[in-house]
Amino acid sequence: PAPVEVKLKDVPKNLEKRVKVSGWVKSRRDQGKDMVFLVLRDGTGYLQCVLTGKLCHTFDALTLTLESTVNVYGIINRLPEGKTAPGNVELVADYWEVVGKAPGGDDAYSSLFNTESNPDVLRRLRHLVLRGDTASSVLKVRSRTMKAFRDHFDSLDWYEVNPPCLVQTQVEGGSTLFALNYYGENAYLTQSSQLYLETCLASLGSVYTISESFRAEKSHTRRHLSEYSHCEAEIPFIKFKDLLDTIEGMVKGVVARLWDEPETRKMLVELNLRKNDEANDETKAAQIVGRDFADIKSLIEQPFLRMEYKDAIKWLNEHGVKREEDGKDFVYGDDIPEKPERYMTDAINKPILLTHFPRSIKAFYMQRADVSELKGYEDFMHDPPTESVDLLVPGVGEVVGGSMRIWDTEELMDAFVREGLNPETYYWYLDQRRYGTMPHGGFGLGIERFLAWITNRFSVREVCLYPRFTECCQP
Ligand code: 4AD
Ligand code: MG
Repeated sequence: PAPVEVKLKDVPKNLEKRVKVSGWVKSRRDQGKDMVFLVLRDGTGYLQCVLTGKLCHTFDALTLTLESTVNVYGIINRLPEGKTAPGNVELVADYWEVVGKAPGGDDAYSSLFNTESNPDVLRRLRHLVLRGDTASSVLKVRSRTMKAFRDHFDSLDWYEVNPPCLVQTQVEGGSTLFALNYYGENAYLTQSSQLYLETCLASLGSVYTISESFRAEKSHTRRHLSEYSHCEAEIPFIKFKDLLDTIEGMVKGVVARLWDEPETRKMLVELNLRKNDEANDETKAAQIVGRDFADIKSLIEQPFLRMEYKDAIKWLNEHGVKREEDGKDFVYGDDIPEKPERYMTDAINKPILLTHFPRSIKAFYMQRADVSELKGYEDFMHDPPTESVDLLVPGVGEVVGGSMRIWDTEELMDAFVREGLNPETYYWYLDQRRYGTMPHGGFGLGIERFLAWITNRFSVREVCLYPRFTECCQP
């Protein structure tokens, strides 16, 4: 009979039917001369195919290499008791053909990289590393995560907008700007879409975007990229507390959405148990290290800890954490670097909404906090606290940054002067205040940091299709 063409994920629904499948040879095992087991991969799933007798004796069969593409025809059988294969089924082939043969010998897929390969090799071969189980699961989870964020905002009835990446204004300070020549004028790759989101409030109400942001980060760290996916939102007529609730609600909502999808949950659980290393999936999968994704699920079932910056400084000093540059105690006004931040978050071991950073270490647009509602700021009024927040999560540190925005025109003008920014290039941002201002706030979440957290990856590079960071713009 004519075969039904099926994707591998649909194979188990075609028991006892004759099918045609197409895919890449993920593994090959020979049993004597008359039997070859192939496991195929097609992006939707995996399938074991059995070739017997004549089918194993052709030149193609004798020289079939990993990652070659093949079409296989045959009957789908339930797997005999005691055997294991993906989906508990196998295809017993009656015909097969090679579509595209992959190289053997020194260039064989299996000899390109392994567990011991150094990161430079893995990076140069990223396009082939992507075919591994870990990388493909991470990319599938990434796809589901993007959808979960959109579904979450959709459930709130917020509009998605698409701000430009080519801009002439900085948002997060001059040191990380990528400058470019724009038809003879200066322009930059955007650091954040925030300012543009603010201009949408008056026509669309609450808005969000998932866009690329760019930062010329000179430091090599496991959580900094030069290009990253930035999920940002902006909300009119809110108070600072509403902003904190919104961020907490989003993170919990997205994790819950992912958890509720059986296939995604399965991938997340497996990834969390799998070592942070791309090569040689088979051996790594067997090593149980790290934590279970259930831990994250339980982390988000409790309220996030809310802590003021000044109390984090106190916490660090009480726990003997010193400044790297001079070995002294931290003081109010210090930026809390990545290491101490992660140390504190790991020690507390729950998500922390860290709030009220002093003005001097935050961006120009942040709204001053009303200190009459706060305690213990008498000595700090030279550098007043702002209505700002970072969400810190165990294992990663900061995943979200947000704030209430200065909504008064004069105050914003003062901020431009203080930061040495030219207000003329921000005329449109100022008009957002001039033409009907209101209290408002928003936040940005780094998709890669969020993914590194939920998939238990060591570096944000592991959750990118093709990571961009210092000295790496290829493939
Ligand atoms: O804290 P950031 O710089 O805040 C902003 O850009 C605000 N304008 C966002 C807003 O309020 N709309 O960046 C926000 C988040 C960080 O918390 C982090 O998760 C991520 O973006 N991020 C990076 N991710 C990867 N590589 C980098 N170099 C990143 N820089 C920031
Ligand atoms: Mg930040």
